[in-house]
Amino acid sequence: MRILVTGGAGFIGSHFARRLVAAGDDVVVLDKLTYAGSLANLHGVSHDFRGGDIVDPTGVAAAARGCDAIVNFAAETHVDRSISSGADFLRTNVVGVHTLLEEARTSELRFVHVSTDEVYGDLPPGRSSKEDDPLHPSSPYSAAKAGGDLLVLSFVRTHGVDALVTRGSNTYGPNQFPEKLLSLFITNALDGEPLPLYGDGRQIRDWLHVEDHCAGIELALRGGNAGEIYNIGGGEEVENREITERVLELTGTDESLIRRVDDRPGHDRRYSLDTAKLDSLGWEKRWTLAEGLPATVEWYRENRHWWEPIKRSDEFRAYYERQYAALLTE
Ligand code: NAD
Ligand code: DAU
Repeated sequence: MRILVTGGAGFIGSHFARRLVAAGDDVVVLDKLTYAGSLANLHGVSHDFRGGDIVDPTGVAAAARGCDAIVNFAAETHVDRSISSGADFLRTNVVGVHTLLEEARTSELRFVHVSTDEVYGDLPPGRSSKEDDPLHPSSPYSAAKAGGDLLVLSFVRTHGVDALVTRGSNTYGPNQFPEKLLSLFITNALDGEPLPLYGDGRQIRDWLHVEDHCAGIELALRGGNAGEIYNIGGGEEVENREITERVLELTGTDESLIRRVDDRPGHDRRYSLDTAKLDSLGWEKRWTLAEGLPATVEWYRENRHWWEPIKRSDEFRAYYERQYAALLTE
């Protein structure tokens, strides 16, 4: 197949593009190269790159010409940034999805929309979200993602578009922009910098290795049904304070780096996904957190040339100052 991977210069999209090329597919990447995107992520991946915005119908149509499917990773993805300012989140995660759906409709393409477990909101202990559960997004990020998901389902019903949604849990691995919990804490620990743990640190996330996430999306692309939603969860529920301690051990640092800081507003306590539907398509995870976390720490240890320029950039320094300066001096 020839597949348009939107947001393919980001964390998960670049792993997915690499995977498709290895499987023999032709890949076109459309990416705006925001602060989170980088061509360095696509090093060694043979693809046709188009710089552009998924909100722009002309650029989207040009990139999609000759393709059989679109897989959409393009999004504003960081919850804390959405709390500071939500406008870009609505533009890309809602309007951008609409533009892609119009292209899928007019050119009769399969459309896979990559979404998140955050649309379900947080869950009490003992429960896991199923695909037909109601949506309770808590942040501007997850509310915008839920809007995108609902647009996809509306285009299936109203226009008969061959589209489906995947909802993944917290993803980790190489090439993750160093603003997320693991990528930030690992790189901070390697530099002996503080690890700002929000609130009581007892929030639970369900950790999924990026390769397993991509394998699930690929299964949905090749074998999923239009109008369906597929959960992709790691099945590795860990409290933030515990995974932080594992990072300290793996980086050879100690608890003195942890700073308890004020909680994130609207912070979801726990996510958990029921993945029976994707399992029935034949999905099998390859990574446990016990193997994946040390391998990820090793990748960041050996690839300072990838993350150091990001953390030294003006954009990142300004973000870090805005997000953490007051928290870390309280
Ligand atoms: P990322 O932030 O690393 O990358 C996003 C990419 O999208 C970047 O390359 C960026 O340049 C591009 N982009 C942003 N706005 C664009 C626009 N308007 N037009 C074109 N390109 C644009 O994101 P990620 O962590 O790889 O997440 C990819 C997708 O997976 C997102 O839709 C996210 O909601 C979803 N998701 C992420 C996780 C996670 O833990 N990271 C978990 C579940 C679902
Ligand atoms: O669950 C899937 C989602 O996972 C994706 O849809 C999002 O795109 C992705 O960013 C991620 O969202 P989270 O908000 O869960 O990820 P984040 O890495 O920002 O935070 C993980 C947990 O760690 C969360 O409970 C907040 C906490 N945290 C995070 C940061 C950045 C801290 O305690 N300190 C921090 O500095």
